Amino acid sequence: MELNRQTAELALKEASESNPGAWTDHTRYVARACKNIALHCKTLSADQAYVYGLLHDIGRYAGVSSEKHLIDGYRYCMKRGWEKAAQICISHAFMIQDIDTSIGKFDVSEDDYLFMKEFVANAVYDDYDRLVQLCDALAMPTGFCLLEKRFVDVTIRYGFHPATISRWKKVIEIKEMFETQTGCSVYTLLPGVVENSFR
Ligand SMILES: [Fe+2]
Repeated sequence: MELNRQTAELALKEASESNPGAWTDHTRYVARACKNIALHCKTLSADQAYVYGLLHDIGRYAGVSSEKHLIDGYRYCMKRGWEKAAQICISHAFMIQDIDTSIGKFDVSEDDYLFMKEFVANAVYDDYDRLVQLCDALAMPTGFCLLEKRFVDVTIRYGFHPATISRWKKVIEIKEMFETQTGCSVYTLLPGVVENSFR
């Protein structure tokens, strides 16, 4: 099945029906942030970026889970031949390529854990992986937000982990990397970011 905006939208619609939740609203904002930022990057396709954003949490179709949603999403996409989207289903949670930097629970089998550990260590990231890592931290279910707001939101829900500060630093570094490409603050590309951050 070809991966395009339509097939990705349909996949998200079906997933949101099988496991309704705020995650789908978050996902839509992630996708829009990816598209808006990619539009200002010479080497990225806005359509591709949008689709990868839309699919990054698709593993949540399988129900409420922690890190299991990463491998569920990977398998979902691989089954359809969407290899890069599959990689992003895992890579978006590992801006640092080390399984021990996870903030979630590995509610997966031993084999799946080992697979993810190897996958994360060996994956070669490109700007699409990094863009989704960044945009995942720029979107709440209610809209775009200041990175720091999302950092606190995630930390309240998942707790403070040994890698929390390193993860924040990495995301800030990725934001700066994209701003070098776009030539502007990424926040200027996110409509409503001020209203949603300070609501
Ligand atoms: Fe996400």
